[in-house]
Amino acid sequence: MSAKTYILMDPATGKKIELKARAGSVGPDVIDIRSLYGEQGLFTYDPGFGSTAACESKITYIDGDQGILMYRGYPVEQLAEKSSFMEVCYLLLHGDLPTAAQLEEFTHTVTTHTMINETILRLFNGFHYDAHPMAMVAGVVGSMSAFYHDTTDIMNPRHRDIFAHRIIAKLPTIAAAAYKHTVGQPFTYPRNDLDYGSNLLHMFFAVPAQPYEIDPVAAQALDLLFILHADHEQNCSTSTVRLAGSSQANPYSAIAAGIAALWGPAHGGANEAVLEMLEQIGTPDRIPQFIARAKDKNDSFRLMGFGHRVYKNYDPRAKIIRTMTHKVLNQLGKADPLLDVAMRLEEIALQDPYFVEKKLYPNVDFYSGIIYKALGIPTSMFTVMFAIGRAVGWCAHWREMITDPEGRIGRPRQLYTGPARRDYVDVGKR
Ligand code: CMC
Repeated sequence: MSAKTYILMDPATGKKIELKARAGSVGPDVIDIRSLYGEQGLFTYDPGFGSTAACESKITYIDGDQGILMYRGYPVEQLAEKSSFMEVCYLLLHGDLPTAAQLEEFTHTVTTHTMINETILRLFNGFHYDAHPMAMVAGVVGSMSAFYHDTTDIMNPRHRDIFAHRIIAKLPTIAAAAYKHTVGQPFTYPRNDLDYGSNLLHMFFAVPAQPYEIDPVAAQALDLLFILHADHEQNCSTSTVRLAGSSQANPYSAIAAGIAALWGPAHGGANEAVLEMLEQIGTPDRIPQFIARAKDKNDSFRLMGFGHRVYKNYDPRAKIIRTMTHKVLNQLGKADPLLDVAMRLEEIALQDPYFVEKKLYPNVDFYSGIIYKALGIPTSMFTVMFAIGRAVGWCAHWREMITDPEGRIGRPRQLYTGPARRDYVDVGKR
């Protein structure tokens, strides 16, 4: 491990401040500034945390310039090709790939936690029929802290395990209940003889009136999408889970906070916004006018599914999903003219100097919606799908945060630019 020292100089006094750097296993060094305020009375300023490592983590590594994403050291391309979502969940939570017996036990545990307390189901009746599913899912996951009191000793490793199993297992059930509420159909209970993706399709689309045949191609596509969404280091929702959890709050509420953060269109909400944008564009001949709007400083419109804080290269997940979209549409026998619009849009944008100079490439959300649509999942459920995949990442980060010996309550500082001290003036004298 290198231990470089960086020197800051106080321009007023010429006094030098030495700051040690810490090296990670891969990636840039970080300058340890923990003593800066205590010893020098200085804060650092980094809105949006573009240059700030808020924690040490062993879970996921991204090289945004090279377009590399690894879970616990394994390239996402290899996991997408060879692994399964259950195996990736185990890997993210435990640090290593499971043996066959460990995988079987883990899968069994998740499968047998899929039912939710019946009272939770009644909560859905309190929502209006047109409530956005993300609003329902965030609310209902938050309510889990009112149901599962037996696993809220966050210092107990067994409780932490059961909490993670419950989140991964029950989120599809909660999502399906939200969907059924939206379409006015009776809730469908989970089936423990089905794999994770098949069970989700069953809960979404089965109705009591007729048999429902699960398409294995659709189930496999979901499994792959969940692998690709499973974690993405310190993104907005994961950082939200860490921050909310750092107060030692009930972990179910920390996950609910993460779901709420994910909903924003700059984050997971982009997959819904992409499909709406592609529908609005409609045909390839209308693309140039939308590109022009995205480049116009006076227009707030952005190409949804384009650009990323970390990736300044093609998002490796988007590359996999792009190939997968063709395969899935072919296998399901469902052509979608929106795929042509998306591909042409990508082609035009990647040749445009604006997007080239700013290094704006398609991200994970650009093609995923076309697959969800082909599976029959409505647009308003897209971000819920993202949440189902990301839940394991949130749980892994929450566990890492809560067991970090250097962990403290998250409490950023600020550059205050409001009024300096002034005296109160009685209302009659103002
Ligand atoms: N369309 C047009 N211009 C863009 C876009 C876009 N999609 N994204 C960034 N830019 C421009 C932006 O206007 C700015 O230009 P300038 O330097 O002239 O002011 C420059 O690129 C840098 O943008 P930024 O907003 O400072 O970058 P950021 O790192 O803060 O934001 C982002 C990253 C993902 C929020 C942004 O690229 C964006 O809004 N993309 C569209 C929404 C989207 O697809 N979000 C999903 C992200 S991936 C999945 C996830 O995180 O959940």
